[in-house]
Amino acid sequence: MTAKIIDGSAISQQIRNELATEVAAFQKQTGVTPHLAAVLVGENPASAVYVRAKQKACETTGLRSTLHKLSADTTQQELLDLIAELNRAPDVHGILVQLPLPKQIDQQVVLDAVTPLKDVDAFHPENVGLIAQGRPRFLPCTPHGVQQLLVASQTQVAGAHVVILGRSEIVGKPLAMMLVQKGAAADATVTVCHSRTRNLPELTRQADILIAAIGVPRFVTAEMVRPGAVVIDVGINRVDEKLVGDVDFDAVKEIASAITPVPKGVGPMTIAMLLKNTLTAARLAT
Ligand SMILES: NC(=O)c1ccc[n+]([C@@H]2O[C@H](COP(=O)([O-])OP(=O)(O)OC[C@H]3O[C@@H](n4cnc5c(N)ncnc54)[C@H](OP(=O)(O)O)[C@@H]3O)[C@@H](O)[C@H]2O)c1
Repeated sequence: MTAKIIDGSAISQQIRNELATEVAAFQKQTGVTPHLAAVLVGENPASAVYVRAKQKACETTGLRSTLHKLSADTTQQELLDLIAELNRAPDVHGILVQLPLPKQIDQQVVLDAVTPLKDVDAFHPENVGLIAQGRPRFLPCTPHGVQQLLVASQTQVAGAHVVILGRSEIVGKPLAMMLVQKGAAADATVTVCHSRTRNLPELTRQADILIAAIGVPRFVTAEMVRPGAVVIDVGINRVDEKLVGDVDFDAVKEIASAITPVPKGVGPMTIAMLLKNTLTAARLAT
């Protein structure tokens, strides 16, 4: 069996087209253009690429985006002052702080300083709490993108055993919280694995849906996948100037029923979900 390729580029484009229509209608009704303020600290080239991609996506969907670029030696207080200013600005609806931050800055302190109503990444403890209770204000972009890929590929999530590799605050943990909720594209039985998990292949082979988010190139081999499973690869790793995922794509596609590629899988979905949250934030403020 060769797996169906779940095309994140095409699916995200369709979502962005629908969003563009929603943004135009919102604008016509309220006179307000949803506005994302992105904050980039330092010279990390990958971060600069991600921020540029997010800004470009805003522009092509009818949202406004502004970039606040700070030098690598910015102090924590300077960054907190900027966040406070953006929190107060009535024409800013979403605030995105691109990670990672330079080491003199405590990431947690900065993310906690973003007002929950403009927290389009859904990192603030108030928003995380709302997700845990099944009444989200914003859904975190990458986990929401994964969930939308499962919907678009008509994968049966209810009752499925989902095995997630990785327990980060950005991907693994919130994704597990979302998939275990009652409701559409959820109701799954979820196992979360991490670097201390014993007998990992035994667990991954039980997965109806296997989601890899660990940041280890081609970690998931064909032997770790149950024939017919749906495999979602969140990983983005640079190997010999090439982007590869956490899944050995060429081998696993021969045994999975559906699989996401890297690039053009989860990545573009993350951006589409960020745009969606910015529109939600503008609605909340208007
Ligand atoms: N496509 C996108 O839009 C997008 C968005 C975000 C992240 N990513 C990518 O997704 C990957 C993960 O990102 P992240 O931010 O979640 O990473 P992270 O914060 O580094 O967390 C990695 C997780 O994987 C676990 N892990 C690492 N090695 C493992 C192993 N050999 N076996 C089992 N578990 C292992 C870690 O376990 P411990 O907790 O025990 O250390 C940790 O929970 C990266 O490649 C990142 O670039 C992609």
